[in-house]
Amino acid sequence: MTVHNLGRYATITVPRYTSYPTAPHFNTGVNGQTYQRWLAETPPDETASLYFHVPYCRSICAYCGCFTKASLKDGPILAYGKTMAREIDLVADHLPGKLRVTHMHWGGGTPSLMPREGFQTIFEAIERRFDLSNVDEHAIELDPRVVNKALAADLKAYGVTRVSLGVQDLNAKVQQAIGRIQPLEVVEGAVSALRDAGLDAVNMDVMYGLPRQTLEDVVRSVTACAALGADRIALFGYAHVPWMKKNQKLIAEDELPSAGARLEQVRAAHRALEHMGYVSVGFDHFAKPDDPMARAMRGGTLRRNFQGYTTDTAASLIGFGASSIGKLRQGYVQTAPDVGAWIRCVEAGELPVSRGYEMQGEDRLRGSIIEDLLTGFHADLSIARGGITPDQTWINEHLIRLDDLVEDGLCQVVGAHVTIPEDARFLARLVAARFDGFAEQSKARHSVAV
Ligand SMILES: C[S@@+](CC[C@H](N)C(=O)[O-])C[C@H]1O[C@@H](n2cnc3c(N)ncnc32)[C@H](O)[C@@H]1O
Ligand code: SF4
Repeated sequence: MTVHNLGRYATITVPRYTSYPTAPHFNTGVNGQTYQRWLAETPPDETASLYFHVPYCRSICAYCGCFTKASLKDGPILAYGKTMAREIDLVADHLPGKLRVTHMHWGGGTPSLMPREGFQTIFEAIERRFDLSNVDEHAIELDPRVVNKALAADLKAYGVTRVSLGVQDLNAKVQQAIGRIQPLEVVEGAVSALRDAGLDAVNMDVMYGLPRQTLEDVVRSVTACAALGADRIALFGYAHVPWMKKNQKLIAEDELPSAGARLEQVRAAHRALEHMGYVSVGFDHFAKPDDPMARAMRGGTLRRNFQGYTTDTAASLIGFGASSIGKLRQGYVQTAPDVGAWIRCVEAGELPVSRGYEMQGEDRLRGSIIEDLLTGFHADLSIARGGITPDQTWINEHLIRLDDLVEDGLCQVVGAHVTIPEDARFLARLVAARFDGFAEQSKARHSVAV
């Protein structure tokens, strides 16, 4: 089966669905008091995954869409770390006991910029307040430009098990256009320092759709990552949203590849990665066939959360740090995005929640169908989800919405089963979006689907 009218779909904008509802639909009705109640209602035997957001980098890359800021000094980062340790105590004070942690993830920004003393203070707090005896994965996002032997040894000592390196593109002219000079030798040096320290589960991020980037550049970059032995490669399409991210105004729009060129880039990278033995996982990840993420996909346990695709199956996700998002049974909470406001709130002994979303009505049903479509590329609309079993009218109404996508080969429908065929998987978000109850009323502007 082949996809038709691709050009039409390449320019449509859709969310990445790292949550449902997506963050633009969070509201201020969820606040510190709501969070306090939700934490207290958490069953004591629940498993949790912990996310730590460190919004600092040495300099800001022009393409960056993450919530971060530049700091050449360690002082503000250390102070931030000490506040994070206080936040851990504040949150844990409302929990029914020491929850068992299965996953830990450090994101940013560049979390490895946290000085040793900051990490130590944070780890003391986590160890005091959570049960860390059975952590399956402890991951951290790294900028290869600031990885050295001493950092690698520290990460190993902290119990880190997986590292994720931002490679983006290895061509010098692209690196100039995105304000991030990082020759292949820098990435090679980082990988060997990490492996020498015993950190051998290595992920790499590659981007396509960058200014001045050609199809050959993208293929060369993923090939270099494979040659360096990356266990997982994430292939992210550059999301150009300068109305939200002021730093992206530095990107010359006339140097960006066209929608058609982006499509060619992503398809060529897919082919190259599959040819090199990687398995396609979800719509933007690739993994070695024996990697836990590829196994999770085969076993039907792959999940999607704020970090994108994950093998994490914990019931709750607790976020720490400014702008971090957590998910409890009742819904989502987001901490204050402004570092100053987040610090003031924590120092005053209050949970620093600025907004969130309480799940209601059909939210769990829709969220579960969207997650199934994006992780397993299949959803049975007739089964019970979130306490709701859709009736035939609901199913028919939703199947009708897929008519044009079925016609163009983006999905197939048999009875109440929706399946996304292999060559349309990179467009899976377009199918998922047809189950989004907020899609019609959404005023949020997203990036393109490809
Ligand atoms: C938070 S960054 C952390 C990595 C680390 N700070 C670094 O730069 O190497 C995670 C990844 O998000 C991706 N990313 C950042 N901005 C993006 C954008 N505007 N569109 C798509 N992907 C983006 C990049 O691939 C980056 O490696
Ligand atoms: S891509 Fe990484 S290093 Fe660059 S600004 Fe974003 S978070 Fe910082």
